[in-house]
Amino acid sequence: MSSKSTALVTGATSGLGVETAAQLAEAGYDRVTITGRTEEKAADAKQRLEARTGRAVFEPLTFDLGELATVEAASDELKGRGTSIDVLILNAGLVSGKELVRNEDGVEQTFAPLIGHHLLTMRLIENQLLADDARIVIAGSEAARGDVPFMEVIDLPEFAGGAFDGDLEAAADAVARQRPPVEFKRNNAYADAKQFGAMWAGALARRLPDGSTVNAVSPGSTPETDAGRHQGFMMQRVMLPLMTRFGGRVGVAHDLETGAGRYVEAIDFDDEVSGRFFASAPKKMTGPLQDLTEPRISDQASQEAVWNVIVGLAGGVDYPKT
Ligand SMILES: NC(=O)c1ccc[n+]([C@@H]2O[C@H](COP(=O)([O-])OP(=O)(O)OC[C@H]3O[C@@H](n4cnc5c(N)ncnc54)[C@H](OP(=O)(O)O)[C@@H]3O)[C@@H](O)[C@H]2O)c1
Repeated sequence: MSSKSTALVTGATSGLGVETAAQLAEAGYDRVTITGRTEEKAADAKQRLEARTGRAVFEPLTFDLGELATVEAASDELKGRGTSIDVLILNAGLVSGKELVRNEDGVEQTFAPLIGHHLLTMRLIENQLLADDARIVIAGSEAARGDVPFMEVIDLPEFAGGAFDGDLEAAADAVARQRPPVEFKRNNAYADAKQFGAMWAGALARRLPDGSTVNAVSPGSTPETDAGRHQGFMMQRVMLPLMTRFGGRVGVAHDLETGAGRYVEAIDFDDEVSGRFFASAPKKMTGPLQDLTEPRISDQASQEAVWNVIVGLAGGVDYPKT
């Protein structure tokens, strides 16, 4: 574990977020901001975390990443608190239900956390609350590799070429909104949201000062969370419990500690490791983290198109000018 001591973990009311906050406190962090969508959920998480770790280091913060006004308000709150952050874990995310749901800004709900995470990160930088050697980790997923069955990822240049005369930004905007010609399928939306998260990390890495890093890191197959809450009966009541119980024996799942441990592992990556996408080895869902930044994800034109679309959807909030 590094010498870092302050962290902010989003989605820290459930699953991997709570576990990550606990691991950081147990490793000696003395200030861990935990975010929840409601004050009640965040306060409840604080209580559970204090009981587990025996440490009074958790500071609740409330926002919904899909409602940008709440992210702005929380950013102001952080500024008021003067919370300097060494480690930013952008963990919150979801697999949606079968219905297509967009927020007030027209962004499909699986993509909405990425826009909120962007806004939060830009405001932290603007308010000089991120340490010079900050580590930013955004939740990735094996789904973004494009080799997980029933989870297809879009090849942005190919899609743009076919549907938007090669206009990468128009194509990325259609993906984030899940509007035609994109045909909404929740698993594909999830895979593309994670692909866009990895591309955002690539674009942000080019803007961050030397010494700070950002990487997309998949926690790997971790069925012991609430991520299946919008899925069907078979997945929630049969598949996920079976995977929780037996998945470790056949290498298709690991426990919460291991999943969250991957975010924590990424905090110790060297300064040179930035803008990368880490996940389990190709075709695997567990095991050691590997750098899987393939050309589809590292294509600079695609990364910049995704960045520009995210900036637009975040109300024009770009990387702060110095
Ligand atoms: N579990 C896995 O196998 C797995 C594998 C790869 C990647 N991941 C990624 O890991 C991350 C954590 O997932 P998990 O498995 O721990 O699921 P989880 O138990 O459902 O936790 C998700 C957390 O994100 C929060 N969240 C969702 N949408 C939000 C929004 N719009 N604004 C603010 N907070 C929001 C949730 O808050 P509420 O409780 O209020 O909804 C919850 O705290 C996600 O990004 C997920 O995609 C998980």
